[in-house]
Amino acid sequence: MDNSEVYVGLDIGTTSIKALVCENVKGQIKVIGAGVEPAAGMSRGVIVDIDKTARAISNAIAQAEEKSNIDIKGVIVGLPANYLQMQRVHGMITIANNGQSREIVDQDVLDLAREALTQSIPPERTVIDLVPTEFTVDGFDGIKDPRGMVGVRLEMKGTLYTGPKTIVHNAKKAIQKAGYMVRDFVVTPIATGFNLLNDGEQDFGTLVIDLGGGQTTTSIIHDHQLKYSYVDPEGGQYITKDISTVLNTSLKNAEQLKRDHGFADSTQADDVQIDVEVVGQDKPVQYSEKYVSEVIEARIRQIFDRIARQLDRINAPELPGGVILIGGVAALPGIRSLTKQYFSGNVKVFVPEQMGIRHPRFAISYALGLYEDRLSGIDRLIKQVVQEADFGKAMPDTNAGNRELQSQESVEDSNGPIQKRTSQEQTTKKKDGSFSSKFKSLFNNLFD
Ligand SMILES: Nc1ncnc2c1ncn2[C@@H]1O[C@H](COP(=O)(O)OP(=O)(O)OP(=O)(O)O)[C@@H](O)[C@H]1O
Ligand SMILES: [Mg+2]
Repeated sequence: MDNSEVYVGLDIGTTSIKALVCENVKGQIKVIGAGVEPAAGMSRGVIVDIDKTARAISNAIAQAEEKSNIDIKGVIVGLPANYLQMQRVHGMITIANNGQSREIVDQDVLDLAREALTQSIPPERTVIDLVPTEFTVDGFDGIKDPRGMVGVRLEMKGTLYTGPKTIVHNAKKAIQKAGYMVRDFVVTPIATGFNLLNDGEQDFGTLVIDLGGGQTTTSIIHDHQLKYSYVDPEGGQYITKDISTVLNTSLKNAEQLKRDHGFADSTQADDVQIDVEVVGQDKPVQYSEKYVSEVIEARIRQIFDRIARQLDRINAPELPGGVILIGGVAALPGIRSLTKQYFSGNVKVFVPEQMGIRHPRFAISYALGLYEDRLSGIDRLIKQVVQEADFGKAMPDTNAGNRELQSQESVEDSNGPIQKRTSQEQTTKKKDGSFSSKFKSLFNNLFD
């Protein structure tokens, strides 16, 4: 079967790997197969054991192949926002032919993107994406696609996203070991932001919170750009561990209790009693749904507290688009009302409409499936240049395990990349007025 209209989104999560096969049928994207496999070799969003993760990826994709009856070759892979850096770039080329203006063609866009990419990128980082914001032809700005126009000088402004080579390399290697090719790498909050949000939400500003198993990723989409991301190193696994510890029951039981009886907002839970098998007891012990939900709520409140503090620190404005929740933990009943206590605006849980994947944990793989299909001609040209820059080239350092234990924040900077800051540094530096005011003015600039 011809694979040209088929897109496979691969979401390598801390707790599970999701593979979705999407097909464009007369302009409509349909999900024709899904595979889900418990993750292995992952810690807080990143691969720490390539072989184990490769096996899990292979199983997830094999399931998707079987369900869709498609022979999968290349996959579109989501990269976590961990240690993501964003920086504004500007490129300019002269297109005049003997001093005469001429029509701008694809090749000019390629040359321009290459020019914009000649920024100094630290050796441990690699280019993941370059998203153009506007083109300028002979001083006329605000152009979305300059091809076919006539000019002497062509400029481009955009945002460059770079990530640690370790993360990108390990993902590439694991997918290759699983027997597949990387068709494209996409920063996950870009894929979700551009494909799950409607035009107004992307334009006026929306907070997207991915409540995953291993970590919680918050991003701000504004002006059709990913402007900010913050990765909190806690997620659904912590909730399960809390239930297991507090109720003295196995992790397996705790996970089941969370899914079958849990509420994110404990005021919505009933006093109905549940029999729980407890370690060291012959007979089950009874706990109320409310009690289990209080444990769940406490952990989510801690995560939301930290996110709210980060947003406060950077002086994030109220976002008219409100909040979109994705990720497995967003399936908890009561999550919307709890979220409303922390963030302004309307709160929605994004659940893909398609059969077999009606769960917020499929939001990312679904967005990845849509992503490639929706790229414009200009985006595709620029992607070509990004891929030439070769994400995840030869890597001296493959030790991802020592890098992923802190929360990380990324914000677009007009004057070059802002270095990642660990949560410890953030606490100490917070007392320094200049640091926080720098962030504030920077963030205000982003929303000009
Ligand atoms: N119905 C449910 N109720 C409560 N929690 C749920 C439900 N379904 C899934 N979860 C939780 O969602 C989490 C997994 O979500 P998801 O698949 O989005 O994470 P992941 O992609 O594996 O991890 P990460 O994004 O952090 O790398 C697990 O902790 C799981 O317990
Ligand atoms: Mg995830």
